[in-house]
Amino acid sequence: MSAPESKATGPDLTLGLAVDTLADGKLLLGHVGDDAVVLARRGNAFFAVGATCTHYGGPLAEGLMVDDTVRCPWHHACFSLRTGEAVRAPALTPLACWSTEVSGSKVFVRAKVTPAPSRRVVLAPGGPQKIVVIGGGAAGFAAAEMLRRQHFRGDIVMLSDDDASPVDRPNLSKDYLAGSAPEEWVPLRDDRYYTDQGIDLRLKTTVARVDASAREVVLEDGSKVAYDRLLLATGAEPVRLSLPGMELPHVFTLRTLRDCRAVIARAATTRRAVVMGASFIGLEVAASLRTRGIEVHVVAPEKRPMEKVLGPQLGDFVRSLHEEHGVIFHLEDTATAIDARKVILKSGGTIDADLVVAGVGVRPRLGLAETAGLAIDRGVMVNEYLETSATGIFAAGDIARWRDQHSGAAIRVEHWVVAERQGQTAALNMLGGRSKFDAVPFFWSQHYDVPINYVGHAESWDELAIDGDIAKRDCAVRYKRNGRVLAVASIYRDVASLKAEVAMEKAMLL
Ligand SMILES: Cc1cc2nc3c(=O)[nH]c(=O)nc-3n(C[C@H](O)[C@H](O)[C@H](O)COP(=O)(O)OP(=O)(O)OC[C@H]3O[C@@H](n4cnc5c(N)ncnc54)[C@H](O)[C@@H]3O)c2cc1C
Ligand code: FES
Repeated sequence: MSAPESKATGPDLTLGLAVDTLADGKLLLGHVGDDAVVLARRGNAFFAVGATCTHYGGPLAEGLMVDDTVRCPWHHACFSLRTGEAVRAPALTPLACWSTEVSGSKVFVRAKVTPAPSRRVVLAPGGPQKIVVIGGGAAGFAAAEMLRRQHFRGDIVMLSDDDASPVDRPNLSKDYLAGSAPEEWVPLRDDRYYTDQGIDLRLKTTVARVDASAREVVLEDGSKVAYDRLLLATGAEPVRLSLPGMELPHVFTLRTLRDCRAVIARAATTRRAVVMGASFIGLEVAASLRTRGIEVHVVAPEKRPMEKVLGPQLGDFVRSLHEEHGVIFHLEDTATAIDARKVILKSGGTIDADLVVAGVGVRPRLGLAETAGLAIDRGVMVNEYLETSATGIFAAGDIARWRDQHSGAAIRVEHWVVAERQGQTAALNMLGGRSKFDAVPFFWSQHYDVPINYVGHAESWDELAIDGDIAKRDCAVRYKRNGRVLAVASIYRDVASLKAEVAMEKAMLL
């Protein structure tokens, strides 16, 4: 997704600013010509970087400075203030940087500079020459990008059974599905990127098995691709309910760009849609279809949407938010059959529908890991370096189960940012680094104009503390066990969410 054009606002930083105006650890929005620039102070050092996050254009001056980085308030990307490098996903593109100079009692922003990103791993002679990535999604793409960022000059082969190059998957249930984002926002990079970077991206290529002892990947057509290091990033696939009618042409699941295009094409002639499932993807789809003016019915077995993850209060809020936008819920009910015109419910009712989207969860794609003989426990088991039980094979993203240093539990999550950050960490380690994956899990979800940010991980809690007012869309909800905060969900409390992330990171270090 491209960032909106920045608007120059605040002081002209080239004219100098009294040093005392900016306290240590603070950010200030100003401009240099037409460029919006954030000035940051750390001790007596000043840094100047572009003010607009390169992910979706978040306002970095409203984010949080942590040591010599700035974190984006919207989806927690982290940028180096020294080099502008996007050190942590979801942003992948660096910020512009300017030099600064203190003269007398003033700090001046001077020329634009292009510092080199920091090298986080030393490439040893005799290191890997050929790295194969299975998966062209969040984790696979972020890994390949990081390999090149770290100056890895060997072969990178990215195998994906998708027919599209890596896409911004979260957009497929949000702006792109709603019709408010053009398709050029969807690819993470254009096709030329892969050629320029020497990434051998092979689409429509299914890997049939991994031969760990021969260090080879066997493709469906029988051909083989050898590797020195392998990253498994096969993601997840939507659960398909075994209902009569699931195979009908107006019934869809949503994972790929192709799926999304098919839903959009059908939506053009749809008057009424049924969404099965009231969790994140189902409700984001409901919101997007409402934006298209379609009547939407949501059918789900639970009493409250999202209660299992967000608790009853936020669950009720999400329900009323969707109802305000005209969504009709059929909760504590399920579909038993679908025919060409309607969905038949267990309760005995029927709903006429020209379009049905099933968003009832996903299943990690573990088949390759299983046949390779890797240790599996409801996910591919990885150590803190994201290496599997087979030397040289790493796993990241929706398939990986790792020991989360914050909760202490072995967890597997289905979050975009986690998948990308794991891809980045796995890349460093495939090159011989020893980077622990220690990022606190983070995800966001968007419903109409309401974003929900969630940091941490709480599968259950014994206390739920609400700060602020959920109905007023201004809150931070803390999920605690034995008095310890496991996770924080927030609406329009971005700095609180960032601070919670930092607190959880610090707690891990103790
Ligand atoms: C519509 C939608 C909206 C979402 N919104 C959000 C959100 O707002 N926030 C959030 O945190 N998360 C969101 N998610 C979840 C997020 O997209 C996933 O957690 C993330 O994509 C996982 O990344 P991954 O790399 O593990 O897998 P994926 O991105 O699914 O990539 C897996 C890749 O592996 C390939 N592959 C699998 N098996 C094979 C094989 N045998 N041979 C070759 N290729 C293979 C696939 O084709 C694909 O390219 C959303 C997901 C969807 C579907
Ligand atoms: S807009 Fe900054 S992380 Fe998404």
